[in-house]
This record gives sequence, C-alpha cells and structure tokens, in this order.
Amino acid sequence: MAAACKPLRFKTGSLPQTCSMRLHFLLFLSLSALVLAACQPTPETRTVSTLAPPPQIENEAEIVARGEYLVRTSGCNDCHTAGYAERGGKVDKAQWLLGSPLGYNGPWGTTYATNLRLHLKDMTEAQWLEYSANLRTRPIMPDFAVREMTREDRRAIYRFVQSLGPAGEPAPAYLPPGRTPPAPYFTLVLPQAPAAAPVGGH
Ligand code: HEC
Repeated sequence: MAAACKPLRFKTGSLPQTCSMRLHFLLFLSLSALVLAACQPTPETRTVSTLAPPPQIENEAEIVARGEYLVRTSGCNDCHTAGYAERGGKVDKAQWLLGSPLGYNGPWGTTYATNLRLHLKDMTEAQWLEYSANLRTRPIMPDFAVREMTREDRRAIYRFVQSLGPAGEPAPAYLPPGRTPPAPYFTLVLPQAPAAAPVGGH
C-alpha cells in the first residue's frame, strides 16, 4: 500500500515533503482517502498531519488592508458612510463609517446606519468576534452577510475600523413604527406577505 505514495515522489524527484503536499492536494480533489491512509505509516508521509495550515495573513498592515477592502466592497460604506453612494465612493477614509442621518423607514419603524467607529470603540476584538458572528439587527442592515463572513474577515474589519479610530457623533436613534421620521429617509412599501405555499408547490 505504501507504494501508492512512492511513485509520486519518484516521478517528481522532489523532496519527501512535496510528496505529502501533493497527497494533501489530491485529497482535496477527492482522490481516495485510502491513498493518504496508505502513506501515513511511512516516515516521510507522517508530515501529512503536521503540515503547516494554509498561509494566513498575520501582518498587521495586511489585515488592516483586507478590512478596508471588505468595507469597501461588501457595502458597509454604502449605508454607514454618509454621502458615499451619492459621491460614487469618493469619500475620504477619515469620513468612513461615521454613521448616516439617512433613515430607512418601513414596517419595522425607522433605522439609521450606526456610527461603527463609535460602536466598536469599547469592544475588544474577542467581543467583536463573538458579537459579529451572532449579529442580529433590524432591517435594512444585512446582518446575515456579516454572520456569514469568516472569522478572519470579521477580524480584519475590526482591525480596520480600530485603525480609523473613534470619531463623529452617534447616528439618529431608531424610531418605532408609526412615527414619521424627519427627512432624509427612504420609505419601503413592501408587498403583502405571500399566502402559505400550497403543499408540494414551489
Ligand atoms: C443596506 C444598508 C446597510 C449595509 C449595506 C450595511 N449596514 Fe450595517 N446597519 C445598517 C442599519 C440601518 C443599521 C441599524 C440597524 C438597527 O437599528 O437595528 C446597521 C447596523 C449595523 C451594526 C449594529 C450596530 C448596532 O448599533 O447595533 C453593525 C455591527 C453593522 N451594521 C455593521 C455593518 C458592516 C460590517 C457592514 C458591511 C459588511 C454593514 N453593516 C453593511 C445598514 C447597513
């Protein structure tokens, strides 16, 4: 069985570790796990289990840059930075994520995109990671998108926001349904909830 490993090594003529890496790769390609298991007893392939994890971004500047990229491309600025969409994203970073006076009015009342720089100010990284993994907000915040982000990406956002530092004022307070907000605000008039789907329907 160990022969399953050796031909690979001989063909490439490379170091034993290359063999292990190739096997690791092949495993991901759904090649039989048996091949890997067969290789494990041989000394050179014991490294399969001790291989370094995939490279992670550990450099602080890179983490912060990743956070900036995510904030820029995941839409956080669209709502949490006043005037961002109107100016086609041409807003100085110093003004990013300071919250917005633009209300989102709907059946839930009126919500305002939070000043994230103040919101994260007193949160430790560990607190943010726990909080953001379980984030639940009112509409129109896509809390589900943040919950789906990897821990690394949520950490990068945290580091980026911390790098900007706290600034600005809190966004206007949430208004319950039935209260007309002052301008500017969007009103969402939603269709009636559909009737329960018929059994077997799509
Ligand atoms: C479509 C607009 C929109 C987008 C896009 C958006 N947000 Fe929000 N966000 C809001 C609104 C509005 C609220 C306030 C919700 C509420 O009152 O419960 C909010 C609240 C939050 C909160 C909770 C703050 C609190 O006060 O409890 C966090 C954290 C947050 N947003 C982070 C993000 C991040 C990170 C992104 C980008 C990945 C993002 N948001 C994208 C509109 C948006």
